[in-house]
Amino acid sequence: MNPLKPDEIPKMRAAGKLAARTLEHAGKWARAGVTTNEINQIVHDFTLSAGAIPAPLGYHGFPKSVCTSVNSLICHGVPDDTPLKDGDIINIDVTCILDGYFGDTSRTFFVGNVSDKARDLTDVAEKAMWKGIEEIRPFATTGDIGFAINKFVTKRGYHVVREIGGHGIGTTFHGDPWIPSFGKKGRGPKLTPWSCITVEPMVNETDAAIDEFDIPGSEIKYYHTMDRTLSAQFEHTVLITNAGFEIMTQV
Ligand code: MF3
Ligand code: CO
Ligand code: CO
Repeated sequence: MNPLKPDEIPKMRAAGKLAARTLEHAGKWARAGVTTNEINQIVHDFTLSAGAIPAPLGYHGFPKSVCTSVNSLICHGVPDDTPLKDGDIINIDVTCILDGYFGDTSRTFFVGNVSDKARDLTDVAEKAMWKGIEEIRPFATTGDIGFAINKFVTKRGYHVVREIGGHGIGTTFHGDPWIPSFGKKGRGPKLTPWSCITVEPMVNETDAAIDEFDIPGSEIKYYHTMDRTLSAQFEHTVLITNAGFEIMTQV
C-alpha cells in the first residue's frame, strides 16, 4: 500500500463524504414496502447527480449500483424486486468513485420494529467496527485490528465472518492489505501512514458456515449464513495518519 500524496488526501475525503451522504440518503428508504431495486435506483441517481460513479456497477460484472444484504445475507446482496418488510435488517453498502478516488461505507438499518436479537447483533457489529478502527495508528498491524474486533464480538456471544474482510482503498476499490475480523496482535502487514483501508466486520448470530452463491454474469459471489440466521455489518473508509486515524466516510 503506497501512501497517498498530499494532494490526494482531500480527494479521498471528498469521495468518502459523498459515499457517506449517499448512504444516509439511501437509509431513509429502508422502510417496509420499498424494494431493494428502488434503493438501488436512489443510490444510482444520487451518485450521478453528484458527478460521481457508483463503483459496484459493472465491477467484475456486478449488475447493480449498490449492495443490499437483508437478514441472513452476509454481503454483496444484489438488489431485486422483493419489498422490505417490517422486522427486516438491511445492510446498504455504498461505494462511489469521485474524481478517480473511492469511498466505501455501509450500515445496517432497521425496517420498522426489529427483534431484540436483531437490535443486539446490529449494535455489536457497529461497536466491533469501532473497536477495529480504534486500533489504527502508524505501523499497527492488520492483526491488531482483527484481534480487537473478534475479542469484542466473541465477548458479546456472536461470531465474526473469517472469509471476507476489509481492504486497502484509494484509486482502486480493493487493494492490499486485507483487513480480517480476527487475528493475533502484532501479526500481519503493518499499516502505512497516509494510506486508506476499510474496516468492515460482518457479524453473525451463529457459527454456521457461510453459503456462497454465484451472480449470473459476474465473478462476484454473494453469501448467506448456512442456517439463515442473521448477519449484520458496518463499514468505514479510514485514513491512517501520522498520529492515528481519520474517518473518510463521514457526512
Ligand atoms: N462495497 C463492498 C466492499 O465493502 C464491495 C462490493 S463489490 C460488488 O468491499 F461488486 F459487490 F459491488
Ligand atoms: Co469495502
Ligand atoms: Co463496501
